[in-house]
Amino acid sequence: MKIAITGANGLFGHGLVQVMRAAHETFPMTRADADLTQLPDVRRVLLGARPDALIHCAAAPDPDVCEANPEYAFQANVVATRNIVDVAQELAIPVAHISTDAVFDGAADSPRTESDATNPISVYGKTKLLAEKAVMELERYWIFRVSVLFGPGKANFVSKGLQSLQSGRAYTVASDQIGTATYTLDAAGKILEMMESDRFGLFHLCNTGVCSRLELMQQAAIFAGVSTSNLLGKPLVEMGRIGRRPKSVVLDMKGLKVAGISPPRDWKAALAEYVSASAATD
Ligand SMILES: NC(=O)c1ccc[n+]([C@@H]2O[C@H](COP(=O)([O-])OP(=O)(O)OC[C@H]3O[C@@H](n4cnc5c(N)ncnc54)[C@H](OP(=O)(O)O)[C@@H]3O)[C@@H](O)[C@H]2O)c1
Repeated sequence: MKIAITGANGLFGHGLVQVMRAAHETFPMTRADADLTQLPDVRRVLLGARPDALIHCAAAPDPDVCEANPEYAFQANVVATRNIVDVAQELAIPVAHISTDAVFDGAADSPRTESDATNPISVYGKTKLLAEKAVMELERYWIFRVSVLFGPGKANFVSKGLQSLQSGRAYTVASDQIGTATYTLDAAGKILEMMESDRFGLFHLCNTGVCSRLELMQQAAIFAGVSTSNLLGKPLVEMGRIGRRPKSVVLDMKGLKVAGISPPRDWKAALAEYVSASAATD
């Protein structure tokens, strides 16, 4: 199978290319190949490459950037996805779309399944939900809602924190923002399994287990052997961010289980592997 992957220079894109190319031919796409908000560019590149499937990972994923610039968010998250859907229809190929736990409002105190009602509270979440709806127009699609990502290839929540702590600078994170965490390489492996099956639909995808952002960072520091004395926890409402984050979203991976695919391992095991692998490549 030849798999096109948008956002290939991004954090998740990097992990997806790494995992997919071990099993299939890949066609990584970056902004230099095509600005996805421009339909003629998307058509030119994809009709030329003729992939058998596409993973749409490109997006504007920063909630603060999206909140400050809603038109940019709409173009990057909705118009780009609309263009991908149009060309995928023309090529009659399935699309795996990467979405987010930010489609929920974070007010529920129980885990969220794929059938629970969405209610995004930020421009980021709203535009990502509109993108999901565009993808649902396809005959064959997978939507994977992931949570906070860590993995190789690009700075992320965990690597930025470790860098700050290692250089003696304070790193402040939300102590009461609860959720799941997603190791890009583990998630990419499950997406590969799903794409090789004949099952389609909407899936929650993250590592197993629940943690606050503070616990995630504390555990990363412990694995890296870095002091946590400069790691500070603050209530989410005091973080002073423009883009609202849902306070508590625990993704329940019911869809994956029903599809017969085991959920990714526990987040601590994944984090331990990521931290030791990134220490080895530093
Ligand atoms: N990061 C997280 O913690 C997180 C959590 C939940 C869900 N997600 C979702 O996971 C996916 C991947 O996120 P990520 O963290 O890997 O993002 P990322 O590192 O910012 O990568 C996104 C990529 O998309 C590209 N892109 C954006 N707009 C484009 C356009 N108009 N044309 C072509 N390329 C464009 C960017 O290119 P440039 O670098 O040139 O801008 C970038 O390489 C997104 O769908 C995001 O919503 C992320």
